[in-house]
Amino acid sequence: MAENAAIGAPDRGRFITFEGGEGAGKSTHIKRLADRLDAEGLRAIVTREPGGSPGAEIIRHVVLSGMGKLLGPEAETLLFAAARDDHVHAVIQPALEQGIWVLCDRFSDSTRAYQGRLGQVAPGVLNAMERVTIGRLKPDLTVILDVPVEIGMSRAAARRGTGTPDRFEAEDIQFHRQLREAFRQIAQDEPQRCVLIDANTDAATVAAAIWSAVSDRLLSAAPARNEIASA
Ligand code: TMP
Repeated sequence: MAENAAIGAPDRGRFITFEGGEGAGKSTHIKRLADRLDAEGLRAIVTREPGGSPGAEIIRHVVLSGMGKLLGPEAETLLFAAARDDHVHAVIQPALEQGIWVLCDRFSDSTRAYQGRLGQVAPGVLNAMERVTIGRLKPDLTVILDVPVEIGMSRAAARRGTGTPDRFEAEDIQFHRQLREAFRQIAQDEPQRCVLIDANTDAATVAAAIWSAVSDRLLSAAPARNEIASA
């Protein structure tokens, strides 16, 4: 593993998050990226939110069952925050410190979109939760997969088969349209960190666009942006 000569420590891993509405293809493309990194000789783990650590997976079950919704938007947001706190401290930070790349299916932008923009939880409340759960940890790159809502929802329905829609899949089309706009707005507001990718095309084209963003932005001499988290 490469050494950081300045401090004599191994280079930190890179932290990549994947975001988007339902049925955008995040799981498929995270897996493809992990395989590509492996082929390049880079160690990577794939994880997800809510979940990714044993404690957070229990909370995932609670929120996706719809039980969190009964508590109201702020309390439901606290459940996502509790899951994130455990996941960051138990899985994400230790991996990055060991030089392992972390590919995470959803992260704090999902809270901004689902609980903030759609659930109307105030930005001040979200900021306070982020201070506690992630501190200064920022993804080095956020890949936002964009698909028309009807296509994403039909992909999600096909994947689900005869299963029941979860808490968020069950929301109406208007909710999902606003969600798409919320993610597009995040990409527009933070172009340094985010890349918006048209996922309404064949998987090979989407994978190539993701790899191009990763190699252009992260496989250079630039230090990990998430490094400041440990400063
Ligand atoms: P998924 O893993 O299948 O995408 O399901 C996770 C669901 O949880 C998805 O509908 C988005 C939602 N979610 C939030 O509402 N807030 C969050 O902070 C996160 C991480 C996910």
